Amino acid sequence: MKHLLKMLDLTTEEITEILDLADQLKYELNHGIPHPHLKGKTLGMIFQKASTRTRVSFETGMYQLGGYPLFLSSNDLQIGRGEPVQDTARVLSRYLSGIMIRTFEQSEVEALAEYGSIPIINGLTDFCHPCQVLADLMTIREFKGKLEGLKMCFIGDGNNMANSLIVGCLKMGMAVSIACPDDYQPPKEILDFAAQYDCFEMTNSPAQAAKDADVLITDVWASMGQEEEAAKRREAFAGYQINDDLMACAKADAMVLHCLPAHREEEITEKVFEAHAKEIFEEAENRLHAQKAVMVKLMA
Ligand code: CP
Ligand code: NVA
Repeated sequence: MKHLLKMLDLTTEEITEILDLADQLKYELNHGIPHPHLKGKTLGMIFQKASTRTRVSFETGMYQLGGYPLFLSSNDLQIGRGEPVQDTARVLSRYLSGIMIRTFEQSEVEALAEYGSIPIINGLTDFCHPCQVLADLMTIREFKGKLEGLKMCFIGDGNNMANSLIVGCLKMGMAVSIACPDDYQPPKEILDFAAQYDCFEMTNSPAQAAKDADVLITDVWASMGQEEEAAKRREAFAGYQINDDLMACAKADAMVLHCLPAHREEEITEKVFEAHAKEIFEEAENRLHAQKAVMVKLMA
């Protein structure tokens, strides 16, 4: 494993290794056991979009590992004035030990990896959000004790979160159902991957998708960069909400996850959100542990 660009690139064994190391680092942190695996290393963090969790968890995680994080806003980098990513990659590779990037196009992340000579970590693109899904898998395993054989149901937009969840959960032996409006299905690349699995189902009926689910997950209806479509999307996604009626379709002990930020009374009701706050905020915490594991695997 040289980079973390998308879940499609990881094997089941690599995902398991990351989750195991994340559990260990979480234990060590909670018991005051130092783990300076990245002493003397530097991580550049390029942000072309806003972030609360990703920025703070990577920055804190790098500090806890003994390394040094640099926050690089695209507004201040020459990349924001049109310097090609191929050149940025070759320059930053000579200063840094690794790069985390949050941007729009997946191709930009892939180009950084191709032209640079240091590990690249995808901190979210329009196509996928692998860091979040590693934290989600860690959280499911923590609450349910296993992943294999569980059913994950995603309700809403066939977006970056849906894409990464479909791939990550299927690779870990879970059944996956997704409910999305016909015009908002995941891209062909993801559906082609999922088609290899008998335990994958896509429908436009949230109730059908949620049937007997162990984990229900949703995300905002309009992602970063889609702000102008928000009104149109609110119409298209009406009914694609995690609420009490939908919870009644899932298993009685079903857990609920949300990558955050959440829009209450849109994709999830306040009531369901607060009833499952324990899982949702553990999920947010686990971003820190899962990403530390990724950085150790790639950069130590
Ligand atoms: N879930 C997530 O990636 O959050 P941020 O946008 O705050 O980083
Ligand atoms: N789908 C959302 C996820 C935010 C973490 C977005 O891309 O804005």
